Amino acid sequence: MWSAIENLKIRLSLALTWRSPERVASAIRGFQVTEADGVWHLHRAIERLEDPRTKAVIFTHGLEEECHADVFGSVQRLYAGGLSSPMHFERKDLYAADDPAWKIFAFVNVGELDATQRFRLLRGALPEGPLRDALKSIIDDEEGHVHLTYDMLRRMGASPGEIRVEFVKVRLSRAWEAWLRVGKRMVDGLATVLLSLVYFLLGPFVARAARRRLEHRVVEFDSAHLKHL
Ligand SMILES: [Fe+2]
Ligand SMILES: [Fe+2]
Repeated sequence: MWSAIENLKIRLSLALTWRSPERVASAIRGFQVTEADGVWHLHRAIERLEDPRTKAVIFTHGLEEECHADVFGSVQRLYAGGLSSPMHFERKDLYAADDPAWKIFAFVNVGELDATQRFRLLRGALPEGPLRDALKSIIDDEEGHVHLTYDMLRRMGASPGEIRVEFVKVRLSRAWEAWLRVGKRMVDGLATVLLSLVYFLLGPFVARAARRRLEHRVVEFDSAHLKHL
């Protein structure tokens, strides 16, 4: 069910909004930012780990996410004619310092699972091109990260019951954030429509009055008569 809804959303996005290389570049830029944010969160998680081997595994995971960010960056520049738009990086810790460290991996695991499924659906919907090619190896890596982060949760002592509860909390928090994003987009869209209506309905009257005032000011400051002095 989730997969069918997600597939529909992706196909609608491709048909309605990915209609120019600039829009595609902007979406890929979003993927790049998400991957780069993931690297930052993994580095924050490493600081809270004790075992050197676990730290090394997560460091390697971070390198792969960094590689994904680089790949998306290169593909984005192909669609944007070599240009890169400014990026906004989220730099907020997922959990408080006194929360168990394994919870970070529960959050990361849910993100990895969603990313794998979305990228797979996107790849299935895309025509041949550099983004489709790039997604192949990224999907393989993300699948590995889903298993890796789940193993990490178990190795760090979280019980299956605790993991299930945390997954539900993460899902709810991600759904709430997604809803806020949709709400913001709807408000922005509505504001644009209302302001455009005001502009087109009142514009002609205001323009006439403004032109009259402007003409008046031109005469007021006309200094041509000084040339006769
Ligand atoms: Fe990734
Ligand atoms: Fe990943």
